[in-house]
This record gives sequence, structure tokens and C-alpha cells, in this order.
Amino acid sequence: MTVEANTDSSADDTNDERIVPLRLQKFLSRAGIASRRGSENLMTAGRVTVNGEMVRELGTKIDPLVDIVCVDGKPVSLRDGNIYVMLHKPAGYLTTMNDPQGRPTVASLVPVEQYPGLFPVGRLDCDTTGLLLFCTDGELAQRLLHPKYHVSKRYEAMVDGRLFEQEADILRKGITLDDGPCNPAEIIVESSGFVSRVTCIISEGRKRQVKRMFSAIGHPVLSLHRASFGVLSLGDLPVGEWRELTDNEVNALRAVVEFEKES
Ligand code: URA
Repeated sequence: MTVEANTDSSADDTNDERIVPLRLQKFLSRAGIASRRGSENLMTAGRVTVNGEMVRELGTKIDPLVDIVCVDGKPVSLRDGNIYVMLHKPAGYLTTMNDPQGRPTVASLVPVEQYPGLFPVGRLDCDTTGLLLFCTDGELAQRLLHPKYHVSKRYEAMVDGRLFEQEADILRKGITLDDGPCNPAEIIVESSGFVSRVTCIISEGRKRQVKRMFSAIGHPVLSLHRASFGVLSLGDLPVGEWRELTDNEVNALRAVVEFEKES
């Protein structure tokens, strides 16, 4: 356990704590004990001990692998130790952690050495840009990808040719592709001309689904970008950069797929 001179609790809202040691209040919220603010309150109320010593200083950092943290005398451990990261995927990277042919992969863009076991949740085509979620949490990933939970994905596409509303209606009703019928998609034709700009929201994640949907109505996709995945949005995350999800984002994702809320 170490005590930092800077006790500014607002610093906890940043993602600057990707490695141990971890701020005690962040540890408590990750363990599902309370929100970050609630954890601070527990600390200042004198209900938290580290290695048997009461800790009230909000700048205290602990090593979750070494220090023994208790709240009201009960030991606390991280709920699962999982890590969740979003990447703004650039074009030209394969969604795989290892390519035997040595082509560029998303593995080179996320902190795999710091967080061993990270894997992508679903995939984006090599030329698709946008939000790609990574985590070490197999169960959550499985649920997020399961069709039963209808996790929505919002894509921004440029498609070839003038796209008419009647054509978009085919996708809105749910087009049938060679691997079966698609759920109705939400389609917003943003502009239409020699090429058309479209927002497309789908609740499935079949292989090359958006491209196949638009090809099927005669408007091949020229470029594709995923702006959101479930409750997650890229925001202003620069291309090629990653960030850890906030606790709120993780809890919101978990709620969508019916995990119990953890803080
Ligand atoms: N649909 C596609 O066609 N490609 C992607 O990369 C993602 C969704």
C-alpha cells in the first residue's frame, strides 16, 4: 500500500490506472462494492482497511495481488479482474490476434502485453473502421454476440449510387440473404446522389452483413464505419487509439445482456 500526495479524487475519472497499483476507491468500485464516489465515502467513514489498517486517505494505492482489503471487516476481491477496452480501428488491419501470414492485425493496436488475454468481441472487416470492443471476459463477449440479446450496432456507410427510400424499405422490412433472413434494420438515408450516405443500425452481427445487405439491393458499400456497439460510442477517440471502458460503460453493457449490475 502506498499513499499519494495528490488526493484529488476527480483524477479517478480518467483512465490513467491501467496497471497496478490501483487507487483504493477504484479497486472498491471495480470489485462491485459501491460506485467510485460511494467507495470514497466508505473510506472516509473509516470502514475500509488495508492489511488491517484503517485507510481514509483517498490517494491511497494498493496492489490487488498483494494487499488485503476489507470493508466492515469483510475481505474484498476484484469481481473478476476482467479488462474492457475499445479501439478505434483503422482500415487495413485484420480482426485477429495473430495472422500466420504476418499481415497487420488489431493485436498491434491494443495493450496485449499489459493485459494478456484480451480478445476482440466480434469482428470488423479489414477495410471497415470504427468501434471494436476487446475484453478478457468470455462470458460477457459470448452474450454480446448472441443473437438473443439483439445488441445494436450503428454503422455509417457510403454506398454506390442513388439510394431511394423504397429500396431502403427492403432492408427496413428485413431482407433475406443467402444465410437466412435478417432482422429489420433501421436505415437513415442521410444524402443520396452518385454515392449515398447512410446510417444503418442492425441487431445482428453476421459475417459481412451490412455489405451483403446493400449489395443485395444493388448498392455496394464503398466504405463502412462502426460508430457504436450497444451502449458504447466511439465519441472522439482518435483513429488507431484505444481506451479502457469506464465502470459505468461496463455496467451498462452487462445490463443489456442481463448480467446483474455490479456497482
Ligand atoms: N458488416 C460488414 O459488412 N462489415 C463489417 O465490417 C461489419 C459489419
